[in-house]
Amino acid sequence: MARVDAGALWAGACDAARRVCEAVGVRLHRDGSRRDTSRRHVAPNLGVHDIAIDLGTANTVVYVSGRGIVAAEPSVVAVDSLSGEVQAVGVEAERMIGRTPATISATRPLRHGVIADFAVTEQMLRYFIARAFDRRWAHPRVIVCAPSGVTEVEKRAVEEAALAAGARRVHLIEEPIAAAIGAGLRIEEPVGRMVLDIGGGTSEVAVISLGAIVVSRSVRVGGYEMDDAISHYLREAYQLAIGSQTAEAIKLQIGSAAPLADELTTGVRGRHLVTGLPTEVPLRSEEVREAIHAPLEEILRAIEDTLEDTPPELAGDIAREGLLLAGGGTLLPGLARLVSARTGMAVTLADSPLTCVAIGSGQALEHFDQFATRLPPRR
Ligand SMILES: Nc1ncnc2c1ncn2[C@@H]1O[C@H](COP(=O)(O)OP(=O)(O)OP(=O)(O)O)[C@@H](O)[C@H]1O
Ligand SMILES: [Mg+2]
Repeated sequence: MARVDAGALWAGACDAARRVCEAVGVRLHRDGSRRDTSRRHVAPNLGVHDIAIDLGTANTVVYVSGRGIVAAEPSVVAVDSLSGEVQAVGVEAERMIGRTPATISATRPLRHGVIADFAVTEQMLRYFIARAFDRRWAHPRVIVCAPSGVTEVEKRAVEEAALAAGARRVHLIEEPIAAAIGAGLRIEEPVGRMVLDIGGGTSEVAVISLGAIVVSRSVRVGGYEMDDAISHYLREAYQLAIGSQTAEAIKLQIGSAAPLADELTTGVRGRHLVTGLPTEVPLRSEEVREAIHAPLEEILRAIEDTLEDTPPELAGDIAREGLLLAGGGTLLPGLARLVSARTGMAVTLADSPLTCVAIGSGQALEHFDQFATRLPPRR
């Protein structure tokens, strides 16, 4: 992928005017609530850098201007249900999933890319913001990524959570746009570019031109649906119950979207549904492929539907430029091959599929004020 000059890129994107502004959904002023207003007065930018957060269903990746990525951890929070106190966030909390005593719950506060538990998301954002600046009370300007298919209410929830967690001002950026920028695509040009982002809870396909999304599909299927499909298969075929972490580990170990040169086998431990005893069964990579066929098909259909809706000129560009893959789910071996065989297009995997959304949002940070001066305040 060609790398781009971030300054030229965003200047171009801004010049594409209203469509770009809509795509990025800038919010300059809050509704005058005391909390936000007071923060603007008492908390000027005391050396605090701006921050971009890829708030994902599976992982939260934090980028600080001038420093790059400073944190990439699972979006998991462990809370003591009696005191309401946060016990752990990120990697530590993820290790607790399925292993907590009754008084502690380790949960993922986002589902399918949107906030499912507002209070816990706020706590998680507070943790990541404090961690990024190594202090408790930082009030940075924040850009947060949101899936392109989210509703206004869901967008508002993200903004509110970021403000409640200490952000001074918040912009939202659509995930496919951020992924494209992070992967170095020149999205400001009048040329169609296509992106597929497979995350933990959502998959998004978007055609981008002149800095904005022209056509897109967002399906609530991602890596977790593949994990669920593996659990389901083991129940049906071997009467074996496994946890979500084990299902994901199987996918990472022997999962694939297309036949492998050397097919693999692994031993899977779980609880036998009939005897109730701990049991181990051998599982082949062909079986895992069969298990995850349905969620993969849904993602492929989303690509085909998007292509069908793409205007002919842009479709011609995409046929020439190919499709960019981003998001952790696209690391599944054989996925690029499968997508290419199905669409007949060249497919390129982003250099860093798990972080390119945060990197792209981070590049957008450098132009925070540029957006602020060009856009009317939203009240
Ligand atoms: N090597 C791999 N092979 C297959 N899947 C992988 C691999 N590495 C990570 N994943 C999957 O990628 C998903 C996480 O990707 P990512 O961090 O991009 O999601 P997210 O941005 O948090 O989610 P979303 O965008 O849906 O809100 C998980 O389901 C994980 O199992
Ligand atoms: Mg994502």
